[in-house]
Amino acid sequence: MGTIILGTGACVPEKELTNFDLEKIVDTSDTWIRTRTGIESRRIAGAGEHACHLAAAAAIDALDMAGVRPDELDLIVVGTISSHMMMPSSACFVQNGIGAVNAFAYDINAACCGFLYGLDIGDKHIRADKKSKVLVIGAETLSSRVNWQDRNTCILFGDGAGAVVLGHTGNEERAILGVNHFSDGSLWELLYMHNAPSTNPDLAVTNNPGSHIVMEGREVFKHAVKAMEDSIHGLLKKTGIPIDAVDLLIPHQANARILNKLVERIGIPLEKVVRNVHRYGNTSAASIPIALDETNRAGRMKEGDVVLFCSFGAGLTWGATLLRW
Ligand code: ACO
Repeated sequence: MGTIILGTGACVPEKELTNFDLEKIVDTSDTWIRTRTGIESRRIAGAGEHACHLAAAAAIDALDMAGVRPDELDLIVVGTISSHMMMPSSACFVQNGIGAVNAFAYDINAACCGFLYGLDIGDKHIRADKKSKVLVIGAETLSSRVNWQDRNTCILFGDGAGAVVLGHTGNEERAILGVNHFSDGSLWELLYMHNAPSTNPDLAVTNNPGSHIVMEGREVFKHAVKAMEDSIHGLLKKTGIPIDAVDLLIPHQANARILNKLVERIGIPLEKVVRNVHRYGNTSAASIPIALDETNRAGRMKEGDVVLFCSFGAGLTWGATLLRW
Protein backbone atom coordinates (compact mmCIF):
# COMPACT_ATOMS: atom_id res chain seq x y z
CA MET A 1 0.00 0.00 0.00
CA GLY A 2 1.52 3.31 -1.05
CA THR A 3 0.58 6.96 -0.96
CA ILE A 4 0.05 8.74 -4.25
CA ILE A 5 -0.66 12.29 -5.30
CA LEU A 6 -4.22 12.36 -6.62
CA GLY A 7 -4.23 16.01 -7.65
CA THR A 8 -2.09 19.15 -7.68
CA GLY A 9 -2.93 22.85 -7.61
CA ALA A 10 -1.25 26.23 -7.32
CA CYS A 11 -2.06 29.89 -6.91
CA VAL A 12 0.17 32.95 -7.19
CA PRO A 13 -0.92 36.56 -6.69
CA GLU A 14 -1.64 38.62 -9.79
CA LYS A 15 0.71 41.47 -8.93
CA GLU A 16 4.15 41.05 -10.49
CA LEU A 17 7.29 42.75 -9.16
CA THR A 18 10.12 42.69 -11.68
CA ASN A 19 13.81 43.37 -11.08
CA PHE A 20 13.27 46.70 -12.83
CA ASP A 21 10.56 47.57 -10.29
CA LEU A 22 13.02 46.67 -7.50
CA GLU A 23 15.61 49.05 -8.95
CA LYS A 24 13.21 51.84 -7.91
CA ILE A 25 12.96 50.55 -4.31
CA VAL A 26 16.55 49.60 -3.34
CA ASP A 27 20.06 50.16 -4.70
CA THR A 28 20.20 47.15 -7.02
CA SER A 29 20.02 46.29 -10.71
CA ASP A 30 18.33 43.75 -12.94
CA THR A 31 21.78 42.53 -14.03
CA TRP A 32 22.99 41.98 -10.45
CA ILE A 33 19.86 40.07 -9.45
CA ARG A 34 19.77 37.93 -12.60
CA THR A 35 23.45 36.99 -12.52
CA ARG A 36 23.55 36.25 -8.76
CA THR A 37 20.17 34.54 -8.42
CA GLY A 38 18.57 33.83 -11.81
CA ILE A 39 15.45 35.65 -10.63
CA GLU A 40 13.73 38.03 -13.08
CA SER A 41 10.38 38.57 -11.41
CA ARG A 42 8.25 37.51 -8.44
CA ARG A 43 4.57 37.74 -7.43
CA ILE A 44 3.51 39.89 -4.49
CA ALA A 45 0.26 39.54 -2.55
CA GLY A 46 -2.19 42.44 -2.59
CA ALA A 47 -3.60 44.16 0.48
CA GLY A 48 -5.58 41.68 2.56
CA GLU A 49 -4.37 38.74 0.48
CA HIS A 50 -2.85 36.26 2.94
CA ALA A 51 -1.04 32.93 2.67
CA CYS A 52 -4.26 31.13 3.67
CA HIS A 53 -6.16 32.70 0.73
CA LEU A 54 -3.53 31.56 -1.78
CA ALA A 55 -3.49 28.16 -0.03
CA ALA A 56 -7.26 27.74 -0.28
CA ALA A 57 -7.24 28.60 -4.01
CA ALA A 58 -4.44 26.08 -4.64
CA ALA A 59 -6.33 23.49 -2.58
CA ILE A 60 -9.53 23.92 -4.63
CA ASP A 61 -7.56 23.26 -7.85
CA ALA A 62 -5.89 20.18 -6.36
CA LEU A 63 -9.20 18.78 -5.05
CA ASP A 64 -10.83 19.38 -8.41
CA MET A 65 -8.08 17.47 -10.23
CA ALA A 66 -8.21 14.65 -7.64
CA GLY A 67 -12.00 14.36 -7.84
CA VAL A 68 -12.13 14.61 -4.04
CA ARG A 69 -14.78 16.70 -2.23
CA PRO A 70 -13.59 19.00 0.61
CA ASP A 71 -15.77 17.07 3.08
CA GLU A 72 -13.88 13.86 2.22
CA LEU A 73 -10.61 15.27 3.61
CA ASP A 74 -9.35 13.89 6.93
CA LEU A 75 -6.30 16.08 7.48
CA ILE A 76 -4.96 19.42 6.23
CA VAL A 77 -1.29 20.28 6.78
CA VAL A 78 0.03 23.68 5.73
CA GLY A 79 3.77 24.37 5.63
CA THR A 80 4.21 28.11 6.16
CA ILE A 81 6.40 30.69 7.92
CA SER A 82 4.23 33.64 6.93
CA SER A 83 0.80 32.96 8.38
CA HIS A 84 -0.98 36.29 8.92
CA MET A 85 -1.84 35.24 12.48
CA MET A 86 0.12 33.28 15.08
CA MET A 87 -3.15 31.57 15.91
CA PRO A 88 -5.29 30.12 14.60
CA SER A 89 -3.25 28.36 11.94
CA SER A 90 -3.45 29.06 8.22
CA ALA A 91 -4.58 25.44 7.92
CA CYS A 92 -7.72 26.23 9.98
CA PHE A 93 -8.46 29.21 7.71
CA VAL A 94 -8.12 26.87 4.70
CA GLN A 95 -10.32 24.24 6.37
CA ASN A 96 -13.04 26.83 6.87
CA GLY A 97 -12.50 28.51 3.49
CA ILE A 98 -12.93 25.33 1.44
CA GLY A 99 -15.56 23.72 3.67
CA ALA A 100 -13.48 20.70 4.74
CA VAL A 101 -15.86 20.08 7.62
CA ASN A 102 -14.50 16.63 8.53
CA ALA A 103 -10.80 17.48 8.54
CA PHE A 104 -8.51 18.44 11.37
CA ALA A 105 -5.92 21.02 10.40
CA TYR A 106 -2.62 22.42 11.53
CA ASP A 107 0.47 24.32 10.28
CA ILE A 108 4.06 23.20 10.38
CA ASN A 109 7.04 25.56 10.55
CA ALA A 110 9.96 24.04 8.65
CA ALA A 111 10.69 27.08 6.43
CA CYS A 112 11.44 26.03 2.85
CA CYS A 113 11.15 22.35 3.84
CA GLY A 114 7.55 22.82 5.02
CA PHE A 115 6.05 21.13 1.99
CA LEU A 116 8.36 18.09 1.94
CA TYR A 117 8.02 17.55 5.70
CA GLY A 118 4.23 17.91 5.28
CA LEU A 119 4.26 15.32 2.51
CA ASP A 120 6.02 12.94 4.90
CA ILE A 121 3.38 13.57 7.59
CA GLY A 122 0.61 12.97 5.03
CA ASP A 123 2.22 9.76 3.79
CA LYS A 124 2.57 8.39 7.30
CA HIS A 125 -1.02 9.35 8.17
CA ILE A 126 -2.30 7.48 5.11
CA ARG A 127 -0.14 4.44 5.86
CA ALA A 128 -1.73 4.34 9.32
CA ASP A 129 -5.27 4.80 7.95
CA LYS A 130 -5.43 3.86 4.30
CA LYS A 131 -8.91 5.29 3.74
CA SER A 132 -7.68 8.79 4.58
CA LYS A 133 -7.43 11.69 2.20
CA VAL A 134 -4.86 14.33 3.14
CA LEU A 135 -4.32 17.83 1.77
CA VAL A 136 -0.73 19.08 1.98
CA ILE A 137 -0.01 22.72 1.13
CA GLY A 138 3.00 25.02 1.04
CA ALA A 139 1.89 28.66 1.22
CA GLU A 140 3.78 31.90 1.79
CA THR A 141 3.42 35.65 1.66
CA LEU A 142 7.06 36.39 2.39
CA SER A 143 6.60 39.91 0.99
CA SER A 144 5.20 40.64 4.45
CA ARG A 145 8.33 39.22 6.12
CA VAL A 146 11.18 40.96 4.32
CA ASN A 147 12.72 44.31 5.00
CA TRP A 148 12.13 46.22 1.74
CA GLN A 149 15.17 48.36 2.51
CA ASP A 150 17.54 45.38 2.76
CA ARG A 151 18.76 44.59 -0.75
CA ASN A 152 20.51 41.43 0.51
CA THR A 153 17.17 39.73 1.13
CA CYS A 154 14.21 41.59 -0.40
CA ILE A 155 15.21 40.73 -3.98
CA LEU A 156 15.06 36.98 -3.30
CA PHE A 157 11.57 36.20 -2.14
CA GLY A 158 8.06 35.99 -3.60
CA ASP A 159 4.52 34.91 -2.68
CA GLY A 160 2.44 31.90 -3.72
CA ALA A 161 0.97 28.53 -2.75
CA GLY A 162 0.89 24.99 -4.05
CA ALA A 163 -1.16 22.01 -2.89
CA VAL A 164 -1.48 18.26 -3.32
CA VAL A 165 -4.22 15.80 -2.38
CA LEU A 166 -2.88 12.48 -1.12
CA GLY A 167 -4.64 9.14 -1.12
CA HIS A 168 -3.64 5.49 -1.05
CA THR A 169 -3.15 2.98 -3.80
CA GLY A 170 -3.07 -0.80 -3.56
CA ASN A 171 -0.08 -0.65 -5.89
CA GLU A 172 3.20 -0.73 -3.90
CA GLU A 173 5.03 0.43 -7.03
CA ARG A 174 3.30 3.82 -7.15
CA ALA A 175 4.18 5.36 -3.81
CA ILE A 176 6.42 7.68 -1.86
CA LEU A 177 9.52 5.49 -2.03
CA GLY A 178 11.56 7.15 0.67
CA VAL A 179 12.55 10.30 2.52
CA ASN A 180 15.84 11.53 3.94
CA HIS A 181 15.23 14.58 6.12
CA PHE A 182 17.47 16.46 8.55
CA SER A 183 17.62 19.54 10.81
CA ASP A 184 20.48 21.27 12.57
CA GLY A 185 19.31 23.89 15.04
CA SER A 186 22.88 24.84 15.92
CA LEU A 187 22.98 26.77 12.60
CA TRP A 188 19.84 28.83 13.26
CA GLU A 189 21.64 32.18 13.12
CA LEU A 190 22.35 31.79 9.39
CA LEU A 191 18.70 32.43 8.56
CA TYR A 192 16.00 33.57 10.95
CA MET A 193 13.09 35.87 11.65
CA HIS A 194 12.20 37.10 15.16
CA ASN A 195 8.67 37.02 16.39
CA ALA A 196 7.20 40.30 17.49
CA PRO A 197 8.80 41.13 20.85
CA SER A 198 6.93 39.74 23.83
CA THR A 199 5.77 42.05 26.57
CA ASN A 200 6.06 39.24 29.15
CA PRO A 201 7.16 38.58 31.78
CA ASP A 202 7.59 42.17 32.99
CA LEU A 203 4.63 43.54 31.02
CA ALA A 204 6.84 46.31 29.61
CA VAL A 205 5.25 48.15 26.72
CA THR A 206 7.66 48.18 23.77
CA ASN A 207 7.48 49.64 20.32
CA ASN A 208 7.12 46.73 17.93
CA PRO A 209 9.73 47.22 15.24
CA GLY A 210 8.29 44.35 13.18
CA SER A 211 10.16 41.25 12.24
CA HIS A 212 12.09 40.50 9.09
CA ILE A 213 14.17 37.76 7.51
CA VAL A 214 17.86 38.02 8.46
CA MET A 215 20.32 35.96 6.43
CA GLU A 216 24.03 35.20 6.03
CA GLY A 217 23.73 34.71 2.26
CA ARG A 218 27.14 33.21 1.50
CA GLU A 219 27.02 30.70 4.35
CA VAL A 220 23.46 29.70 3.47
CA PHE A 221 24.57 29.14 -0.13
CA LYS A 222 27.39 26.78 0.90
CA HIS A 223 25.25 24.77 3.29
CA ALA A 224 22.37 24.56 0.81
CA VAL A 225 24.38 22.89 -1.94
CA LYS A 226 26.19 20.42 0.35
CA ALA A 227 23.11 19.54 2.41
CA MET A 228 20.88 18.83 -0.61
CA GLU A 229 23.63 16.87 -2.32
CA ASP A 230 24.22 14.71 0.77
CA SER A 231 20.52 14.09 1.39
CA ILE A 232 19.99 13.05 -2.24
CA HIS A 233 22.96 10.67 -2.19
CA GLY A 234 21.75 9.17 1.10
CA LEU A 235 18.21 8.73 -0.23
CA LEU A 236 19.30 7.09 -3.49
CA LYS A 237 21.49 4.69 -1.50
CA LYS A 238 18.68 3.92 0.95
CA THR A 239 16.14 3.19 -1.80
CA GLY A 240 18.61 1.45 -4.13
CA ILE A 241 17.58 3.74 -7.01
CA PRO A 242 20.47 5.13 -9.10
CA ILE A 243 20.46 8.79 -10.23
CA ASP A 244 20.11 7.59 -13.86
CA ALA A 245 16.71 6.09 -12.97
CA VAL A 246 15.38 9.49 -11.79
CA ASP A 247 13.09 10.96 -14.47
CA LEU A 248 12.60 14.38 -12.93
CA LEU A 249 14.18 16.50 -10.20
CA ILE A 250 11.88 19.13 -8.66
CA PRO A 251 14.10 21.10 -6.27
CA HIS A 252 13.26 23.99 -3.95
CA GLN A 253 13.54 27.09 -6.13
CA ALA A 254 15.84 29.25 -4.01
CA ASN A 255 18.39 30.45 -6.49
CA ALA A 256 19.55 29.40 -9.99
CA ARG A 257 23.21 29.30 -8.91
CA ILE A 258 22.43 26.90 -6.06
CA LEU A 259 20.51 24.71 -8.53
CA ASN A 260 23.35 24.78 -11.08
CA LYS A 261 25.90 23.67 -8.50
CA LEU A 262 23.59 20.95 -7.17
CA VAL A 263 22.85 19.61 -10.66
CA GLU A 264 26.57 19.52 -11.46
CA ARG A 265 27.41 17.67 -8.24
CA ILE A 266 24.70 14.99 -8.43
CA GLY A 267 25.17 14.50 -12.18
CA ILE A 268 21.60 14.75 -13.49
CA PRO A 269 20.93 16.04 -17.04
CA LEU A 270 19.60 19.61 -17.14
CA GLU A 271 16.52 18.60 -19.11
CA LYS A 272 15.36 16.51 -16.12
CA VAL A 273 15.44 19.52 -13.76
CA VAL A 274 12.35 21.67 -13.21
CA ARG A 275 13.00 25.40 -12.80
CA ASN A 276 10.71 28.38 -12.41
CA VAL A 277 12.74 30.50 -9.97
CA HIS A 278 13.17 33.14 -12.71
CA ARG A 279 9.40 33.80 -12.65
CA TYR A 280 8.52 33.48 -8.95
CA GLY A 281 11.73 33.97 -6.91
CA ASN A 282 12.03 31.97 -3.72
CA THR A 283 8.53 31.19 -2.42
CA SER A 284 9.88 29.06 0.47
CA ALA A 285 7.47 26.22 1.36
CA ALA A 286 5.38 26.96 -1.74
CA SER A 287 8.14 26.57 -4.30
CA ILE A 288 8.12 22.78 -4.75
CA PRO A 289 4.32 22.33 -4.96
CA ILE A 290 4.01 25.26 -7.41
CA ALA A 291 6.73 23.73 -9.62
CA LEU A 292 5.11 20.29 -9.26
CA ASP A 293 1.71 21.61 -10.32
CA GLU A 294 3.13 23.42 -13.35
CA THR A 295 5.03 20.28 -14.39
CA ASN A 296 1.99 18.08 -13.90
CA ARG A 297 -0.36 20.39 -15.81
CA ALA A 298 2.17 20.66 -18.65
CA GLY A 299 1.92 16.84 -19.00
CA ARG A 300 5.62 16.38 -18.21
CA MET A 301 5.06 13.42 -15.86
CA LYS A 302 3.72 9.98 -16.78
CA GLU A 303 2.64 7.11 -14.56
CA GLY A 304 5.64 5.22 -13.22
CA ASP A 305 8.09 8.14 -13.48
CA VAL A 306 10.56 8.46 -10.62
CA VAL A 307 10.39 12.00 -9.23
CA LEU A 308 12.99 13.38 -6.82
CA PHE A 309 12.38 16.43 -4.61
CA CYS A 310 14.91 18.25 -2.44
CA SER A 311 14.79 21.29 -0.24
CA PHE A 312 16.73 23.46 2.14
CA GLY A 313 15.75 26.22 4.53
CA ALA A 314 15.90 27.98 7.87
CA GLY A 315 16.44 25.82 10.93
CA LEU A 316 18.56 24.73 9.27
CA THR A 317 16.30 22.13 7.69
CA TRP A 318 16.95 20.07 4.59
CA GLY A 319 15.99 16.82 2.93
CA ALA A 320 14.98 14.83 -0.12
CA THR A 321 11.93 12.77 -1.07
CA LEU A 322 11.55 10.18 -3.82
CA LEU A 323 8.25 9.04 -5.30
CA ARG A 324 7.03 6.93 -8.16
CA TRP A 325 4.31 8.92 -9.94
N1 ACO B 1 22.05 44.43 -5.55
C1 ACO B 1 23.28 44.91 -5.75
N2 ACO B 1 24.31 44.59 -4.96
C2 ACO B 1 24.07 43.78 -3.91
C3 ACO B 1 22.78 43.27 -3.63
C4 ACO B 1 21.75 43.63 -4.51
N3 ACO B 1 20.48 43.18 -4.34
N4 ACO B 1 22.84 42.49 -2.54
C5 ACO B 1 24.12 42.52 -2.13
N5 ACO B 1 24.85 43.29 -2.94
C6 ACO B 1 26.28 43.60 -2.88
C7 ACO B 1 26.86 43.41 -1.49
O1 ACO B 1 26.66 44.57 -0.70
C8 ACO B 1 28.33 43.18 -1.81
O2 ACO B 1 28.95 44.42 -2.06
P1 ACO B 1 30.47 44.69 -1.56
O3 ACO B 1 31.30 43.67 -2.29
O4 ACO B 1 30.69 46.10 -1.98
O5 ACO B 1 30.44 44.45 -0.09
C9 ACO B 1 28.29 42.41 -3.12
O6 ACO B 1 26.99 42.67 -3.69
C10 ACO B 1 28.47 40.91 -2.94
O7 ACO B 1 27.58 40.48 -1.91
P2 ACO B 1 27.51 38.98 -1.47
O8 ACO B 1 26.50 38.84 -0.38
O9 ACO B 1 28.88 38.46 -1.21
O10 ACO B 1 26.96 38.33 -2.84
P3 ACO B 1 26.79 36.82 -3.22
O11 ACO B 1 27.51 36.56 -4.46
O12 ACO B 1 27.04 35.92 -2.06
O13 ACO B 1 25.23 36.77 -3.56
C11 ACO B 1 23.20 35.99 -2.55
C12 ACO B 1 24.28 37.07 -2.54
C13 ACO B 1 22.47 36.04 -3.87
C14 ACO B 1 22.23 36.30 -1.42
C15 ACO B 1 23.87 34.60 -2.35
O14 ACO B 1 24.72 34.60 -1.24
C16 ACO B 1 22.85 33.52 -2.19
O15 ACO B 1 22.16 33.16 -3.10
N6 ACO B 1 22.73 32.91 -0.98
C17 ACO B 1 21.72 31.94 -0.70
C18 ACO B 1 20.47 32.68 -0.37
C19 ACO B 1 19.26 31.79 -0.32
O16 ACO B 1 18.99 31.07 -1.24
N7 ACO B 1 18.55 31.92 0.78
C20 ACO B 1 17.36 31.26 1.01
C21 ACO B 1 17.57 29.78 1.19
S1 ACO B 1 16.54 29.11 2.37
C22 ACO B 1 15.05 29.61 2.00
O17 ACO B 1 14.67 29.40 0.89
C23 ACO B 1 14.25 30.39 3.02
